[in-house]
Amino acid sequence: MAVTALPRRRHYHHHGRLRLLIPAISAVSGALLLLFALISLVAPSPADNDHLHPLRRRVVNNVVDDIGNSEFRVPTSGGKLDRDIWRSSRSKFYYGCSNASQNFTEAEAITHPNRYLVIATSGGLNQQRTGIIDAVVAARILNATLVVPKLDQKSFWKDASNFSDIFDADWFISRLSKDVKIIKELPRRAGKIWFPYRMRVPRKCSPRCYQNRVLPNLLKKHAVQLSKFDYRLSNKLETDLQKLRCRVNYHALKFTDPIAEMGEKLVHRIRTRSKHYIALHLRFEPDMLAFSGCYYGGGDKERKELGAIRKRWKTLHHVNPDKGRRQGRCPLTPEEVGLMLRALGYNNDVHIYVASGEVYGGEETLAPLKALFPNFHSKDTLASKQELDAISSFSARMAALDFIVCDESDVFVTNNNGNMAKMLAGRRRYYGHKPTIRPNAKNLFRLFPNRGNMTWEVFASNVRTYQRGFMGEPMEVKPGRGEFHENPHSCICEDSEAKKKLESGPRKFGKVNGVTRKDVWEVGDDQNDDGNDNEEQGGLTQMMKRIKMVFY
Ligand SMILES: *[C@@H]1O[C@H](CO)[C@@H](O)[C@H](O)[C@H]1NC(C)=O
Ligand SMILES: *[C@@H]1O[C@H](CO)[C@@H](O)[C@H](O)[C@H]1NC(C)=O
Ligand SMILES: *[C@@H]1O[C@H](CO)[C@@H](O)[C@H](O)[C@H]1NC(C)=O
Ligand SMILES: *[C@@H]1O[C@H](CO)[C@@H](O)[C@H](O)[C@H]1NC(C)=O
Ligand SMILES: *[C@@H]1O[C@H](CO)[C@@H](O)[C@H](O)[C@H]1NC(C)=O
Repeated sequence: MAVTALPRRRHYHHHGRLRLLIPAISAVSGALLLLFALISLVAPSPADNDHLHPLRRRVVNNVVDDIGNSEFRVPTSGGKLDRDIWRSSRSKFYYGCSNASQNFTEAEAITHPNRYLVIATSGGLNQQRTGIIDAVVAARILNATLVVPKLDQKSFWKDASNFSDIFDADWFISRLSKDVKIIKELPRRAGKIWFPYRMRVPRKCSPRCYQNRVLPNLLKKHAVQLSKFDYRLSNKLETDLQKLRCRVNYHALKFTDPIAEMGEKLVHRIRTRSKHYIALHLRFEPDMLAFSGCYYGGGDKERKELGAIRKRWKTLHHVNPDKGRRQGRCPLTPEEVGLMLRALGYNNDVHIYVASGEVYGGEETLAPLKALFPNFHSKDTLASKQELDAISSFSARMAALDFIVCDESDVFVTNNNGNMAKMLAGRRRYYGHKPTIRPNAKNLFRLFPNRGNMTWEVFASNVRTYQRGFMGEPMEVKPGRGEFHENPHSCICEDSEAKKKLESGPRKFGKVNGVTRKDVWEVGDDQNDDGNDNEEQGGLTQMMKRIKMVFY
């Protein structure tokens, strides 16, 4: 089966080098083709004995025709690897631990009467989840009673659901009763509705910042509403407060029964077809690509379309797409994710669930991924129309379903570093280090454009090397690196037996590249471009090359 990739690959040759290369390559490949013609006369069917001719495979990968098209031979099998592709090898030595220490006073003893904290969260489901977690900790810092947070119903995500439509509010209140006093509604004052004093706190406000900014208002007005609340508490906190974050995130926030049941139903439907599955959270929406300023080789049509969307953000300055790629800030295409997975050992019979919004380029963009993994599932293939109709107008509920199916997966992979990816990455560490693959985009992007001139073995071995430290293994990220929700180090404990064993050897942390772990939504500062990468500059986007996948 041969699948033509989108004509979206850039290719970086210098003009001069290319001019010299093309005749040379055509001459060599011409000669080789002749040789093959001769060989095939004496050889049986070419399809089933490729493995007998390693020479042929290597050469076929080097075929480049005179307009720069080439073939990339991709195996249908992920090959034999020395690792279990469904499990992290050292995960059994670690466990999630979020119980409070003995010093942590019960809520009842510290909650001041007449101090009410009201929170209005902001953003999509997972950004709001961050806000809910930090709201509980903020109330604890202020010794205040928390009112069940109000969800953002007006943002871009437009969803009229309130907290108790998404999360089990009674469970939330009772599960945290020893930590923070939580009530459903602000009491009335003198028989009338009480409007709290409204204010905002800066992002990543420290406990001292809450005491300085919020406490005086709380003492004066007795009820304060913090608006636009998401990541509003500092990353670093004392251990007991970090553990409280984990109790909220991993134990107190439970989706309502209808959402959880629907999620489990989808998971069950995949599991009846396959023991294991991969979940891919794919972000490749037009607006996301436009925002990132990345270029995917679609020529003037793509530049025009994405450029028009990009104008929506008036404050965005010009970005250099090549630089974004080099810095690992461009989301991988569906095809690139598929190739990475095959290189990491996943066969074409593996079932994959894809959680995504609108994909730029639609089916055409998804086709190579579907060719690599024909057992392709999504909400639309797993749920009936009636089931979907019931919730499709609620974006938060749709997001919750994807959250559940991705969370339950054996292997989770993303092509982005957004809020859902971070939230799930941390959660999967807490619950036994379930494999979570984050593409090392900075290095992979040097590899992808050149795949047409290397063998599968070389390509795959490079992918595996680059992905070390990006697979969700324990201790892969240094404690304190990344956002707490992504790397909840205070809530991960080591088995004492394992500790002894590990202490005898050197402790190594995976290499972490600050840039690749940055949120892809954070567009870089081009003024800092040092311009010393002239070799690659401009070259990436100068030429488009078709690389046709051919399976063997
Ligand atoms: C945490 O506390 C619960 C009871 O509240 C207990 O069952 C559990 O074993 C504790 N976990 C750890 C790791 O101490
Ligand atoms: C409890 O507090 C005491 C004194 O403040 C401190 O020495 C001890 O380390 C704390 N214990 C824990 C488990 O945090
Ligand atoms: C909250 O209560 C604790 C324990 O009584 C106290 O140490 C702390 O200063 C109080 N904080 C605020 C902001 O009231
Ligand atoms: C949340 O919305 C539901 C309807 O979707 C409603 O029945 C319930 O009263 C609302 N709760 C709050 C606290 O507003
Ligand atoms: C593949 O091509 C790229 C540029 O197009 C070049 O830099 C690289 O060295 C080539 N690799 C091989 C194995 O020929």
